[in-house]
Amino acid sequence: MTNQHLRERLGRVESPGITTVSDGWPIFWSHAHGSLVFDVEGREFIDLTAAFGVAALGHADAGIADAVDRQARRLLHGMGDVHPPALKVDLMERLTRFLGHGLTRVAFGLNGADAVETALKCAQLVTGKPGVIAFEGSYHGLYGAALEVTSRRDFRDPVAGRLSGRTAFAPYPVTPAEGVAVLAELRRRLGGRASGLLPTGAVIIEPIQARGGARTPPPGFLGALGALCAEYGVMLLVDEIFTGFGRTGHRLAIDHPDHAVTPDLLCVGKALGGGMPLSAVVGHESSLGAWPKARGEALHTATFLGHPGACAAALAFLDAFERQALDQLALARGHEAREQLEGLGHTVLGRGLMLGIALGAPGHGVRAMERCLELGVLTLVEGPEAEVLAVTPPLTIPPELLRLALSRVDRAVRETAP
Ligand SMILES: Cc1ncc(COP(=O)(O)O)c(C=O)c1O
Repeated sequence: MTNQHLRERLGRVESPGITTVSDGWPIFWSHAHGSLVFDVEGREFIDLTAAFGVAALGHADAGIADAVDRQARRLLHGMGDVHPPALKVDLMERLTRFLGHGLTRVAFGLNGADAVETALKCAQLVTGKPGVIAFEGSYHGLYGAALEVTSRRDFRDPVAGRLSGRTAFAPYPVTPAEGVAVLAELRRRLGGRASGLLPTGAVIIEPIQARGGARTPPPGFLGALGALCAEYGVMLLVDEIFTGFGRTGHRLAIDHPDHAVTPDLLCVGKALGGGMPLSAVVGHESSLGAWPKARGEALHTATFLGHPGACAAALAFLDAFERQALDQLALARGHEAREQLEGLGHTVLGRGLMLGIALGAPGHGVRAMERCLELGVLTLVEGPEAEVLAVTPPLTIPPELLRLALSRVDRAVRETAP
């Protein structure tokens, strides 16, 4: 089986709006372990994507594989909100202890967009105010309410007629001066002094923008935003779907003193399920705990809610996180990666192992990503003009493998420069 053969078959059968198929793109994965991925032709790739940030522990971790295998033989599917699997309770309790921040209530989903959808539904239920403020450059998922708060035009425009228009977008600040200006603008909007806006019930933000291009807000911005939201009775929704579980060198990005804030609702996903589809919203008694009580019918559920296989994988992931101190690994590898890249003359954005190489020229990221693939390294592009090359490997990547991958990335970036 060759990649080309599979490209042709995929091109005939999948909806054309999903996978980009062109000369040499994509490769089809056969298997993966640790930070290495193998395609159907037996070629080896170093994974600098962690497969969209999911494989924090690396691919095919033995502990997670065993947990899923054991669970599959015992109970693979339950009745999430009616007669839940016991594991759902274990994971909810464990997750609230793991995350801290006084977050005591949990609602599970299957992927990131689900978690964002649930969080926005919660804000509506609790505040009664339908307006939402999100940020330019945001990416919160592509369906339902998540698409409503995702700013990129290429995702929104083709389905613009389906969007409700309840979301206003504010600039995402990077410098301290931008932070001050954005807070003043938000105060004006939340105070009802901007015309034509619905009453705002929620503000949603990524503590570091992932697909927006590894953009980090100025120190203190998130804390001030939290205080502003509290002042105006607006819920602050923090999306840590990418940044959570050690990615930025802390359990959560908001555990860094520069970004300290206590959100009303926190969305997590990606790494949480250890490779199984799982996300969660966690909140306080005053947010997620303030929904009307279910009496006979759930106010929010889905067939696969609290899937036992995903819960078993997540419990194994949290065990491994604590045993291997994944946040410390991200700090150490992130530091080495930054040193190597800066030493080679690159501008590096982000924190921990959520890094981006700023390339400057629009589209350079795509050419560099394609060249990286030829050189045996998996990367992704970020930023509104594909001008950032993302470096988000498994947090367990061995230092020498990361070094080798980044030397190939450096070569690819240079060879494809305009
Ligand atoms: C910050 C953030 N939020 C939400 C999502 C959407 O998650 P999913 O693709 O699992 O729906 C993503 C996906 O990349 C993300 O990076």
